[in-house]
Amino acid sequence: MNDFADKVVIVTGASSGIGRATAIAFYRAGARLALAARSTADLEQLAVEFGGDDMAIPFTLDVANPDQCQALIDRTVAHFGGVDVLINNAGMIVSGPFEHLQPGDIERQFAVNYFGAVYCTRAALPHLKKSRGVVVNVSSVAGFVGVPTSGAYSASKAALNSLGQSLAAELKPHGVAVVTVCPYFTSGAQLSRKGILRQGSRHKARLEGQQERPPRQAPGTQPVAVVADAILNAAAHRRRLVVLSPFGRLIWRVERWAPWLVDRVLPLAMRM
Ligand SMILES: NC(=O)c1ccc[n+]([C@@H]2O[C@H](COP(=O)([O-])OP(=O)(O)OC[C@H]3O[C@@H](n4cnc5c(N)ncnc54)[C@H](OP(=O)(O)O)[C@@H]3O)[C@@H](O)[C@H]2O)c1
Repeated sequence: MNDFADKVVIVTGASSGIGRATAIAFYRAGARLALAARSTADLEQLAVEFGGDDMAIPFTLDVANPDQCQALIDRTVAHFGGVDVLINNAGMIVSGPFEHLQPGDIERQFAVNYFGAVYCTRAALPHLKKSRGVVVNVSSVAGFVGVPTSGAYSASKAALNSLGQSLAAELKPHGVAVVTVCPYFTSGAQLSRKGILRQGSRHKARLEGQQERPPRQAPGTQPVAVVADAILNAAAHRRRLVVLSPFGRLIWRVERWAPWLVDRVLPLAMRM
């Protein structure tokens, strides 16, 4: 039973894509929600759809700012009385040929995708220990399989995977589960189209001196609602690691045993 009745769930990056769909999935499972991101209007609208203050509060923050992450946790505890589940989902992608990336872009990639999760988790831990709660880090298959033209993104997700492993062992004796969910390409979410696939078709167009074609859907892409249900399920069953979509799991395994094959197939899948 994925029953989160009256549980208090924080979702970062709840204004769109996977985070928004995950907030909806937890709302349907009975949870009360703190919805966090930078786009205040989108969060406010979602909170109203959930029935307002008793069920959901919007909170505007940049997860790269530790004080704002602390304020999110404080506000949630003041409003709902505690925290049961923290979902570190907020993320962005900086992509392009590595030599074109500026140091500031790469630092921002880590500030949002890695340190955002670090700051929110640190602030929430005292409350999660009380509730014997769950941290879910929404990472990526790209954290296991380095993606061409998205090295900074892959590295930030690899760091998040590693943090999840350490914390899972460290916090288990305190009753806190740390779950790492690695989605594969997801439709209805912005990141894959804005980033990885777009860069693939751009790169190829540059090489061939042609106009950029719109990125096609990667094989094995999952709809956002399926990913949201998987996140809910992983939290309910306190799973340590969930790698999503049969295609995502295949690439993850092949990377371990035949990395040369991944090096050949990935650029083709990305139209590079
Ligand atoms: N889509 C995919 O194919 C895919 C695959 C694997 C993993 N993922 C992971 O899934 C997560 C969600 O991605 P998505 O595809 O759903 O992307 P999305 O539609 O662009 O959503 C990203 C969310 O993160 C928020 N966000 C971005 N920067 C933020 C910041 N500095 N502070 C606070 N919130 C911030 C955005 O809201 P605001 O702009 O309002 O702040 C938005 O709500 C990411 O961690 C991503 O790496 C996605």
